[in-house]
Amino acid sequence: MISHLLTPKTITQYDRNIVHLFSRFNIGPDSTQKLNEICEKDEININLLVDLINCYNDLSCLEKTKFEDYSIIDLIDYLERSHLYYLEKKIPEIEQSLLKLGLQESFSFNYIFIKFFEEYKKDIVSHFKTEDEVLFPFCKVLDRYIKFNSQEDLIYILENKETVYHLMNQHKKNNDDVDDLQKLLIKYSPKSNKLSYFEIFLNQMSLFQKDLKIHAEIEENVLMEKIYNNLKAFELKNV
Ligand SMILES: [Fe+2]
Ligand SMILES: [Fe+2]
Repeated sequence: MISHLLTPKTITQYDRNIVHLFSRFNIGPDSTQKLNEICEKDEININLLVDLINCYNDLSCLEKTKFEDYSIIDLIDYLERSHLYYLEKKIPEIEQSLLKLGLQESFSFNYIFIKFFEEYKKDIVSHFKTEDEVLFPFCKVLDRYIKFNSQEDLIYILENKETVYHLMNQHKKNNDDVDDLQKLLIKYSPKSNKLSYFEIFLNQMSLFQKDLKIHAEIEENVLMEKIYNNLKAFELKNV
């Protein structure tokens, strides 16, 4: 388990993949400042960050971690930062590998993966866009309404809740569909240190799927559960 007194440098030396998590919180992976000091300065919820580090390090922690203890706002902060990181870093990196793969060997086999990723990217970008533009703003307004009870927020909730219910139900269905491919990719681990571009692509996809699994789990089983429960309470109060 990770202590709050460790430095990012020590943590990333132990597990290089945590660099990806730190980068979305703008934490330098080689920083020698203690994690608790960085989080206090940058107003990051350290308990959430440490729970995430443990899950990135060992996927089996996901089931044991009580992410429901975190606020809607903290959870959305992590989810929004992750979307940005996927769009600006992760997906372009995978595209670069595919580009190199296509240039190195122009087999029709590679072409299939390039086409597959193009389609995959289209779907996932529109998925993130809907969450960023519809789901997360709704969650923030609902959270604010619970705290301050403003009339303006109440109208917004009433006008948008059916759309959000539909979106959350759809999310669950889509997630069940991608599960098999995700399971397969997560299991992939390269056999040697000298990797071909194809193995680099598979390795990047594997890490991306692991990342998305944690992301979707928090989104669906924690954030959406909170929203369902809050909406239920809201409906009882407003019938
Ligand atoms: Fe998301
Ligand atoms: Fe999602």
